Amino acid sequence: MLTLPRTADALLDVRVSGKRYDTRVVLDSISLTIKAGEIVSLVGPSGCGKSTLLRIIAGLDRNYDGDVLLDSQRQQGPSSRVGVVFQEPRLLPWLDVANNVAFPAGPRRGSDPRVGELLAQVGLANARSSLPKHLSGGMAQRVAIARGLFTNPDLLLLDEPFSAVDAITRMRLQDLLLSLVSGGKTATLLVTHDLDEALYLADRVLLMTPSGHGGAGRIAREIAIPDGRPRDRNGPWLAAARGKLLESLGVSGS
Ligand SMILES: Nc1ncnc2c1ncn2[C@@H]1O[C@H](COP(=O)(O)OP(=O)(O)O)[C@@H](O)[C@H]1O
Ligand SMILES: [Mg+2]
Repeated sequence: MLTLPRTADALLDVRVSGKRYDTRVVLDSISLTIKAGEIVSLVGPSGCGKSTLLRIIAGLDRNYDGDVLLDSQRQQGPSSRVGVVFQEPRLLPWLDVANNVAFPAGPRRGSDPRVGELLAQVGLANARSSLPKHLSGGMAQRVAIARGLFTNPDLLLLDEPFSAVDAITRMRLQDLLLSLVSGGKTATLLVTHDLDEALYLADRVLLMTPSGHGGAGRIAREIAIPDGRPRDRNGPWLAAARGKLLESLGVSGS
């Protein structure tokens, strides 16, 4: 088990000593910290507990042992300081794009000036009056990202946000995410099962694996990516880090 030190300058400080579904332990001795502006990826095989951990950090699940601190304050539930983007866009079908983006402020707040700003940033300035059924999968996910950033959160949590789109759209969305969060104060925690996505986007990659005892998820390894941005998707740093991750997963990296 990797125990990361508690750092005074952490924006997010997570300690989950245990999380059960009924009698089954699914998370065990998790500790992680994220600083303001940092981009951290959490990777690991399906079922190891990534979404469970993200839901705990988002304040959507309070049934666990431990604590989640944001700026040293205990999270008591969902907060406007934390934006969340899921694998599916989860847009409200009866609201247009503008009202979906502004939904964190209330159901009909689409005229808020922040909506136009965000839609321009995600390349959807012309779609503000469209209904979700008229959007492609990639467009809908851009709306979801804009909604996640609507409150100007300190922390953006994303759970496999690009898994449902085609490979080219996926790369475009990855670059869009970087343009929105890199170099800014918003910290990002991205859950993905895609090692290349994790390595391309993150300053640090945390590898979560099921433990030998009952399969409860633990953070087994942390890899810092010293490569600056923009990054070469096939660059030497990423290849070396991919090899380390594969080795930790018990898969040959060559
Ligand atoms: N609501 C639930 N009730 C019972 N078991 C659950 C529930 N959600 C997830 N699990 C189980 O907890 C484990 C971790 O799930 P999850 O966090 O979704 O993993 P991941 O996101 O890494 O694929 C899995 O074994 C899954 O079957
Ligand atoms: Mg998941």
